[in-house]
Amino acid sequence: MPRNTGRDQILVRLSSGETIVDFRKAVNDVRLPLVMPSSPPAHGAVHLRAFRADDVPMLQDLATDPYVPMTGTLPARADRAQALAYIDRQHERLATGAGYSFCVALRDSDEGVGQAGLSLTAIEAGRASAGYAVAPQFRGSGVAAQALTALTDFAWTLLELQRIELYIEPWNIASRRTAETAGYEPEGLVKQHQVIGGRRVDMLLHSAVRSPRQLSAEV
Ligand SMILES: CC(C)(COP(=O)(O)OP(=O)(O)OC[C@H]1O[C@@H](n2cnc3c(N)ncnc32)[C@H](O)[C@@H]1OP(=O)(O)O)[C@@H](O)C(=O)NCCC(=O)NCCS
Repeated sequence: MPRNTGRDQILVRLSSGETIVDFRKAVNDVRLPLVMPSSPPAHGAVHLRAFRADDVPMLQDLATDPYVPMTGTLPARADRAQALAYIDRQHERLATGAGYSFCVALRDSDEGVGQAGLSLTAIEAGRASAGYAVAPQFRGSGVAAQALTALTDFAWTLLELQRIELYIEPWNIASRRTAETAGYEPEGLVKQHQVIGGRRVDMLLHSAVRSPRQLSAEV
């Protein structure tokens, strides 16, 4: 757990060692470190919790999908040590204010089935971006849309946020369906948006914006 060490720094203990996080260089220094919500965001059959060491086999399964390592920091065909280092990096995102990275887990068993994240690097502009992946053995039953719905409901508890974005490659029908099911609207094609797998690619932009319903839920 992060621990305050002084006015401008916190000490983060990771299984791989200790990291000093400098508040002054942090993305969002007004409320660091970010903390996991006290009750896990949930929707349908899933809830969102912190990653744990017993999620390693699921992460190793996830790392067999060649697309997943291209869009995040989980190495292809990760071994146990690489999966544990990935877990540490997810915890570190809270400490630095970079965002939330949740393990998507089944509510009834708490078994990890995937990852859902909210990047807060643009929070000062009122924006976040979301991402998700489901381990191959758990695909095909709409887990990602449930996780994205839980993530989005949680995101609206961050009062600075006005807009959540998803960037999806046009061929990725499962992800486009996930976005639509979770209530994200397509906004169009953003040309040559980013490099994935060594190629600069166009991305479909989907968004959710804070609605009057969410505004009234805050008061
Ligand atoms: C995207 C992803 C998270 C979806 O996982 P999931 O929740 O198991 O998704 P499902 O397999 O249940 O598919 C969701 C929907 O897409 C449809 N679908 C999936 N693959 C499809 C295909 N090839 N063609 C047409 N429809 C497809 C499903 O039928 C389902 O439709 P429904 O909403 O009408 O039921 C998963 O495929 C994944 O982890 N992919 C790799 C990582 C990734 O691409 N992340 C998103 C980056 S933007």
